[in-house]
This record gives sequence, structure tokens and C-alpha cells, in this order.
Amino acid sequence: MYAKNDKIQTLVTDMTSTGEGVSKADGMTVFTEGAVPGDKITSKIVAVKPNYLKSELISIDEESEDRRKDQAVCTYQKQCGGCPFFDIDYSAQLRLKEKQVRDALERIGGFENPPVEPIVGAAEPFFYRNKAQYKVGPDGLGFYAKGSHDVVPTATCLTQPKNSGRIISLINSIIKKNKLSLYDEKTHKGLLRGIIQRTNREGKTMIVFVVNAKRMPEERAIADKLLKDSDIVSVYVNVNKAKGNRILGAENRLIGGEEYLTEKLGGRTFQISPSSFFQVNTAQTEVLYGIVKEYADLKSGEEVYDLYCGTGTIGIYIADDGIKLTGIEINPESVEDAKTNAELNGLTDAEFLAGKAEVVVPEAGGEPDCVILDPPRKGCDRSLLELLLEMKTPRIVYVSCNPTTLARDLKILAGDYTIEKVQPVDLFPQTGHVETVVLMSRVDK
Ligand SMILES: C[S@@+](CC[C@H](N)C(=O)[O-])C[C@H]1O[C@@H](n2cnc3c(N)ncnc32)[C@H](O)[C@@H]1O
Repeated sequence: MYAKNDKIQTLVTDMTSTGEGVSKADGMTVFTEGAVPGDKITSKIVAVKPNYLKSELISIDEESEDRRKDQAVCTYQKQCGGCPFFDIDYSAQLRLKEKQVRDALERIGGFENPPVEPIVGAAEPFFYRNKAQYKVGPDGLGFYAKGSHDVVPTATCLTQPKNSGRIISLINSIIKKNKLSLYDEKTHKGLLRGIIQRTNREGKTMIVFVVNAKRMPEERAIADKLLKDSDIVSVYVNVNKAKGNRILGAENRLIGGEEYLTEKLGGRTFQISPSSFFQVNTAQTEVLYGIVKEYADLKSGEEVYDLYCGTGTIGIYIADDGIKLTGIEINPESVEDAKTNAELNGLTDAEFLAGKAEVVVPEAGGEPDCVILDPPRKGCDRSLLELLLEMKTPRIVYVSCNPTTLARDLKILAGDYTIEKVQPVDLFPQTGHVETVVLMSRVDK
């Protein structure tokens, strides 16, 4: 039996998605922050729970071969916590993510030898994000420190677009010069709550000032100043006067430049406005959607349901001429964006319906040849999966951002469907997140 403050020596063999090293001490699982798989460590136990121990790293006695060997350095990494996999080589990150998917399918889903393909890594594991959500602190823009609401001021960030350093410093100087007050969560006073930067693949950038007021002082002059930057093409104010930590309020007001950014994916065009949902890694999104298209294998005359469709991107990407597309999405604003995106791409046989998938699917009454599922992290509602079992749809393509709920949901479908292929894809290098695309086909009974 172990007690608090005991020192232990262990070999780290795995890593959680939040970046804690996992080892075993006399059969007990130990979680240790700062340790990576392959490290031999000495640590001090700080919490004893019935099924696991938490320990604090004292020393790395033998370093793992998987520790990062390249020159990438991030000064903020230890405080910011946005990149829990940063300390290990990219190839090791990929190995761990693929294992995460396989383990979940075996342990939670109960699948024996699931057909997991080698993970598709990113060609560019840095500077991949197309959207930055900066907090504002007394020392400038940055991100919350791990587990707190203190802002770690950040001069640049290795996962954000390459122009982020220049844009952060430009906005910091505007905040100072215009004496913009900072929002205080405790008192609900002060103006500036955050800054959002969205950047497309051409580098064209939209800036959104999220403010606790109807207007921002000198907003026109601020927009003019920003629009002089070679990349900034659009400047918005987002009005968020609500208490709580919702990032954006309902009202977006253009204060200078263009109304939208546009992005191309697989030859299709998508509009991005301040509130639209768009996957944050554009290059890997194209890879992900390409796999969905291949798995869906739609033929002219077929019908596809794109459930949890957001702004319609997957359905629009995969539905070529002759395919009937129905998208269903809970957020009515996203549904409007989806309709615009479908029009923009000349889709003639597409409809988008607002509501919960589990409620709207039975109302829609179609007989799709293929259903795409792309739910949030909590996975699908059980009633939707039961409905799919009744509908006897021939092919289901499940896109998941959480292997745990994916495995749980696939287990529900398993009696009537076979898992044909499982393809993990890395959309979030340096973090513990992994996307997975699964093709299931109906078993003939
Ligand atoms: C992971 S996102 C997928 C978005 C989109 N497929 C894409 O690739 O950009 C999940 C989406 O599911 C929506 N959602 C959440 N619960 C839902 C439900 N019960 N029914 C329909 N949509 C839902 C969210 O609003 C969000 O847009």
C-alpha cells in the first residue's frame, strides 16, 4: 500500500490525452505530469485514490528516446498547457494517438483486432490553426494558464498562423494607445473580453474584438489601423454582455473591410464569418473529408444524410452531381451558413434542417444509402443509434473527435453493422486530440 509523500521509481509506458505520463507501481496506475512514455522517473505520491495514484515528478532518471529532438522551443508551454504532447517527437505523438483509438475500440467497444489503419499525420505539425482565441490580460494578449483564468501573455504561438506574432503585437499596441479597458470576470466590468483571429490559407485574416458593450471607442479608427496590415482584410466587433464564459455573443458588427473570409476545400468554397464553425486545421480537414468521401462511396442517384452537419462542410464536400444531400444540425445559425455554402457551390439537391438529429431524422422520413455522423465529443444520442438500427441504412461513416464515445456508440451498432475500416487522422498536433473516421456496413441478415 502506498501513502502520500512516498517516493516511487517507475517506467512510464503511456500518456493520457491531457499529457500525464502513465506508469505502474505494484499494479497501481500512476499519473505523473511532465513525464513521457519511455522515461524512467522518480516521483512523489501526492494523491492516493482507490484505483490510481497521482504523483509529482522529482527526477527523470533515464530519458525516453521519444523526447523531442528537434529545435522547436516554446517559452510558454509549461504555463499555458495548450500543447500537452509538445515534449515528445511528432512520430511518437502519432503512435500514441493511434494506440488511443485501438485501445478504446478494444477496451470500451469490445472489438477484437479492430481494423485500425496507420494514423495519417499532418505534413505541418506547427502553425496549423486557422483560428486563435486570445484572452486579454494586463500584459497583453495570451492564453489562460493551465487550470486557471490567469492570462499567460504570449508573443507568438507555434500552433497559430505564422502571422500571429505580428498581429498580437499590433493589437497589444492598439489596446495600449486607445486605453481599452479589460473585462473583469468577477465584477463584470471593463470592455475587452478577448480577440479572435481567423486566417485562411492565403493568409487573409479576420480580427474580432469581443466586447462587453454595444460599441468600442474609436472603433472605425482602430479598424482602419488594422486594415493597413498586409494580411488583415476584415475587422468585427462582437457584442457579448452576458456573464459566464461563453466566448462570443450573438451580435457581430463589421467595423471595417470584408464581410467574410472564404476558404477552398477540395474545390468547394466555404464562407467563414466570425461565429461560423469551421475545423481549425484546414489542410488536415481536407485529408479528413477526403477519407469520408472515399468511405461514403456515393453513386449518382443515392441519398446521403450528413448528421451533426455544422455549416454543411462534409456533405457539400462529398456530394457530387446526382447525389441527394440532407444535412441536420442543432444550431440554426450554422444551418443558415450551410444553406449559403450549398448555394455558393451550386448544389441543387441539398436541404439543411435545424434541430436535434435524433428528433429530425424520423421526421425527415428519407431512406438514405449512407449516413454520416460527426457528433460533438459526447457522441451520439442513444435514441439516434437505435433509429439507425431500425432504418437499416447500408453504410454509416462515423467521424469522431473522441475515441471513448466512438467506441461506446459503435458497440451499440455492432450487432447489425460490421466495422470495415478505422482511420485515425491527426488534426491537432502537439495536443492529445485525435479524429477517427470509421466505415460500417450493414450485415445481411
Ligand atoms: C464536431 S461538430 C461537426 C461539424 C461539421 N460536421 C464539420 O465537420 O464542420 C458537431 C456539430 O454537432 C452539432 N450538434 C450537437 N448536438 C447535436 C444534435 N443533438 N443534433 C444535431 N446537431 C448537433 C453542433 O452544433 C456541431 O455543429
